[in-house]
Amino acid sequence: MNIIVTESYEETCREAAGQMIAAIQANPQACLGLATGGTAQGVYPYLIQAYHQQTVSFKDVKTVNLDEYIGLKPDHPQSYRRYMDNHFFDHVDVSPLNTYVPSGCHMLQQEMAIFAGILDVWKRDIQLLGVGINGHIGFNEPGEVLHARVHMAELAEATIKANARFFASEEDVPKTAITMGVGDILHAGKIVVIATGSQKAGALQKLLNDDEVTTRMPCTLLKLHRDVTVILDRELAQQVGYNRPVS
Ligand code: GLP
Repeated sequence: MNIIVTESYEETCREAAGQMIAAIQANPQACLGLATGGTAQGVYPYLIQAYHQQTVSFKDVKTVNLDEYIGLKPDHPQSYRRYMDNHFFDHVDVSPLNTYVPSGCHMLQQEMAIFAGILDVWKRDIQLLGVGINGHIGFNEPGEVLHARVHMAELAEATIKANARFFASEEDVPKTAITMGVGDILHAGKIVVIATGSQKAGALQKLLNDDEVTTRMPCTLLKLHRDVTVILDRELAQQVGYNRPVS
């Protein structure tokens, strides 16, 4: 596992974007696995900036997202489709046909089959990944078992509480989601994990300072992948007790 300690959240986002840009420069038809959530939000402006500076074009790039809430229409302000359009897709030259965010609002069985089929065909060169405060990845929540492939997931209480900040009230947070499974996440060629904030210290501690792999802390399964880069700021690294010098 490669670990990059940055001076700030901004630098974390810039570094993660840089790795995605490098993947596109290596393969202009690259497929990007994309993430939503507060942490990932800071990465997209750097991708948009690179597009404006003509460092990169998304013309032939494909993208597939990790997850989507069940019950929100694509144009709902908190749907992950809307998030992606607002924060990224509407600002670059990616073709809408080349972007896939699962739909969580109808024919869920068919949608999951489509999602799984896309993951089989669009091989992700790189996957951007955030971590939940309970160690979830995508919406793979801690539990007795995890799922390898696309499935419907129940959100953990901690996730509902954490994501309530994006909704009018906690009751408005959907309780279920469609998500890539852990196996799907691990099938990406390269995984870039970003984290910031003291709330993530417990999960990052298990990921960085511990050899255990457990379904009780889904991010620990990332230790099974051969090309994972974790990017975190110095403040979080110190909270985690990870003090390797800045790389
Ligand atoms: C959300 C998403 C994840 C995201 C994670 C962290 O619930 N399903 O894909 O990476 O939780 O979110 P945040 O960055 O807002 O803390």
